[in-house]
Order: sequence, then C-alpha cells, then structure tokens
Amino acid sequence: MLLRIVFIVICLTAAVQCITPRDLRRVDKAIKSLARKKSATLLRLAFHDCIGGCDGCLNFNNKDNAGLQEAVNSLETIYIKNSFNTLLSRADFWAYAGQAGLRQAISRTDGVEQADLKISFQTGRVDCPTAPYTDVDVKLPAVHLNYEDLVGFFADRFGMNEEQAVALMGAHTLGGAKKKNSGFRGSWTSGEGKLFNNNYYKLMLSQSWRQRNVGSQTDPRWQWNADQKKTGMMLNADICMLKYVEIDDDGKSYCTFDECGPSDGANLIHKFANSQSSWLDTFSEAFTIMQATGNFTLTNIP
Ligand code: HEM
Repeated sequence: MLLRIVFIVICLTAAVQCITPRDLRRVDKAIKSLARKKSATLLRLAFHDCIGGCDGCLNFNNKDNAGLQEAVNSLETIYIKNSFNTLLSRADFWAYAGQAGLRQAISRTDGVEQADLKISFQTGRVDCPTAPYTDVDVKLPAVHLNYEDLVGFFADRFGMNEEQAVALMGAHTLGGAKKKNSGFRGSWTSGEGKLFNNNYYKLMLSQSWRQRNVGSQTDPRWQWNADQKKTGMMLNADICMLKYVEIDDDGKSYCTFDECGPSDGANLIHKFANSQSSWLDTFSEAFTIMQATGNFTLTNIP
C-alpha cells in the first residue's frame, strides 16, 4: 500500500509517464481482440522490435519485416484512438501486445496455464524519434543459419545463453510463414499453429524432414518439410538446432536429414520436447531478457 502511495506521488509530481494497474486493464481491453486474432504476428513484432533495442520502430524497407505492416497499423490505430501516448511509449505498447498475444494463445492451449508463463509487464522503453517507422537497419537474423551463427546472434544482440536462445526459438510453435511475406510456406506445427506449447520441439524429433525449394529456381526458398504430409515445416534456423546442416549460398543443405550429424543444440531440443515446464521456464527467462533490451530503465507496475 505504501509503495503504491509513493508511486502515485512520484507520478503526480515528476515528469514521468506512470501507468497504473487500472490503466493497464484499459490497454488490455483495447488490444484484446487484435491479440486474439493476430497472436502470432504480435509475438513476431515484439521480437523484431527488440532487435537493436525495443524502440517501437520498424523499418519496412527491410523485406524481412514483411507481414508486420498490418499489425503495426492496427496497433497504431488503437494507440492513437485511445490516447495511449499519455500512458506508455509505443515500444511499451508493442511489448505489451506481444505478451497479450502469448496469453491469448495460451488460453486456447490445453495443458498450459497462464501461470506457466513467468513474465510480467514493465514500462520505461523509449521510442525512436520517428516511431513507429524508421530507416535504421538493425540487422535482422538471416534464415539460413547454422547453430553457431544462431546462438551467436542471440548472445550478441541480447546477451542470451545457448539454452535461452533455443527456448526462445520455440516461439515458432505459433503461427507460420507466407509466400507473400518471406516466401516460405506453412506452419511449423500444422493444424496447431494457434497453440502455444512444446509441440515445435516434439515435432522436430518425431518427423523425418526433407528439404524442398518452395520458391523458384531464380529466387529459391529452401525449407524442410515433414515427411508426413501437412505436419509442419522448419527453416534452416530451426533445424540447425537439431542437425548439423551445412548449406550453400541459397540455403540448400549438402546433407539429407538422415545424413546430417547432430547439432550441438540437439540435447536442448530433446530437453524441451521432454519437459514443457522446463521449456516454458526458460522461454519466460529469454522473453524477459529480450523485452528488456535497450537503452532504458524498466519499472514494475505496482
Ligand atoms: C534466427 C531467428 C529467426 C528467424 C530466422 C526467423 C524467421 C522467421 C520467418 C522467415 C518467418 C515467416 C514470416 C512470414 O512469412 O510471415 C517467421 C515467423 C514468425 N516468427 Fe520468427 N524467426 C526467428 C526467430 C524468432 C523469434 C526469436 C521469435 C519470437 C520470440 C519469432 C517469432 C515468430 C512468429 C510468432 C512467427 C509467425 C508469425 C505469423 O504467423 O504471423 N521468430 N520467423
């Protein structure tokens, strides 16, 4: 109670944005319908925004952001219409949207409780001066990666360890890829792409995967499709955690799934496939680190 009074006094006297639990409920209500319909896209947006520091800004000249424009537009409409700029930055709002997307997906998923996601919302992120757009190139990760590059990316950009990096990639259990966006096609967990559980890891282990070019000869998109039809797909950035794939410049692997040796991340794929709770714990840790990346100080909501 005392903490709350101190908080309110600071908010009234200082030139800082303060958001109360009541304000947050208002934000939650305004965003709920979008979070239900676009949970995966909001999660992807939350990730892309935090590469280079969470700052409520995206560069749409970068084709790797394709597919996020509509979500940014919808968020912008909600943000302006409700004057949320008096409460929180866009970066905070997008961070909250990512969390709301996750919570909506969890509410649809049997065997996962909201309490399993151990993340809390904090505010204090600062927008870039041209929010919500920018022309700064924050260097998004390539799709055609090997394991070393993948964990190197998460260590370098977020200070994550290997386990946290592999856990965060489990976000791909949700949503999918579209030809009109990235050129890749399908969901990682076909038929279950609206759920948030450890199926991504289970599926990676239970299937035999075959590489297929879903693009064209001149503009190839090599992805891994499950042998069992309509079961799922994986990108090189996913499969490299299980198999040691060596790829050419187009992303085509020199070895078949059976021929490729195990990757250094394989034991973590087994760990997360075997224990949903250990995955959710490490995912929560990694997601919290991701959303705290940038030049700002976060504070709790009392
Ligand atoms: C090296 C790392 C990663 C690469 C190369 C990568 C690449 C991609 C690609 C190519 C797509 C398909 C986009 C489309 O066609 O619409 C995608 C979708 C997605 N990504 Fe990632 N991703 C990475 C890491 C992550 C992380 C860390 C998260 C979240 C924390 C994430 C969340 C998502 C989600 C939820 C989707 C589905 C979006 C939708 O259905 O609208 N990704 N990613």
